[in-house]
Amino acid sequence: NENIYILGIETSCDDTSAAVLKGRKVLTNIVSSQKIHANWGGVVPELASRAHHQSIVPVVDLALRQAGIDKYQLSAIAYTRGPGLMGSLLVGATFARAMGLGLGIPVIPVHHMEAHILAHFIDDPDMHSPEFPFLCLTVSGGHTQLVLVNGFLDMKVIGQTTDDAAGEAFDKIAKILGLPYPGGPLIDKLAQHGNPHAFRFARPEVPGFDYSFSGLKTSVLYTLEKFQKEDPDFIKKHLNDISASVQQAIVDTLLKKVKLALDETKCKHLAVAGGVSANSGLRKALSSLAESMGVSLYVPKPSYCTDNGAMIAIAGYYYYTSDTMRTSFLNPVARWQV
Ligand code: KG4
Ligand code: ZN
Repeated sequence: NENIYILGIETSCDDTSAAVLKGRKVLTNIVSSQKIHANWGGVVPELASRAHHQSIVPVVDLALRQAGIDKYQLSAIAYTRGPGLMGSLLVGATFARAMGLGLGIPVIPVHHMEAHILAHFIDDPDMHSPEFPFLCLTVSGGHTQLVLVNGFLDMKVIGQTTDDAAGEAFDKIAKILGLPYPGGPLIDKLAQHGNPHAFRFARPEVPGFDYSFSGLKTSVLYTLEKFQKEDPDFIKKHLNDISASVQQAIVDTLLKKVKLALDETKCKHLAVAGGVSANSGLRKALSSLAESMGVSLYVPKPSYCTDNGAMIAIAGYYYYTSDTMRTSFLNPVARWQV
């Protein structure tokens, strides 16, 4: 399997990315992040698809050149089928399909959230990757899920958000604070200099392993509106404390259900995936929870947490080498359950 070369293409949201894998080893992983959305407070779908359209050829070309391989050496092309923005998905899917047709090799449709989880098996799979079964907290801009992972291609969602995703909560609250998109990483930075107990924002309750974040956003909005009326510079003056308290509320909410799920499933292995797993407060909280529960914790490299082509390629690798070989083109879908 060391002679399998997979090209992975990711275009589900606002990053155009292509990676080349030799077996499970990453030869190259190119990510072109679209700067165009920063001033809009969120991803503008129409602008995103246009930017993917402009970047896809140079990004794939650079990935192949950096990997030092010829395109005729490729065994297969994996692409993100969904979930994501339809216009963005169409660019990557159509490109992959055409390239696969041209080269006469299979194209492999990949589930974006499955790929976030499989990012744990990139590069050094037998050394540091989670043992099955493990519980995975998948937290991104579009999703927040608790997934029971029984095998590479055997996953079951046991809980998910009923409204906003955790990353969406970070980004929407950042917008309230006047920060540019994506605000998650900025809140993380500011929070490191603030007091997480300065403000007590709401932590909405939902049953089972599910999540809810929209109440937190409203609670931040109403609380700050009140203070801003008294002092128009309130947010500016207390940005670090507000950020730290927001992050604390999101981390507390995430951790509560992780703990519940670990208790009920008796899973001894815990993993985290998706863009928000880059958050330093979440990483710290998860590692102390894991330690106190005698559970081992697995956190991917930050570059494999946020959207990237390597995770699509590794998912493609498992499909390519499995008995159920899913290797024919499927039309992109905006919504798709794991
Ligand atoms: O997985 P990802 O790159 O894209 C999606 O599939 O959505 O996740 C992006 C999300 C954004 O909401 C971004 O604000 C958030 O991940 N994020 C963070 C951090 N880094 C990225 N949120 C909090 N702290 C961070 N350090
Ligand atoms: Zn993602």
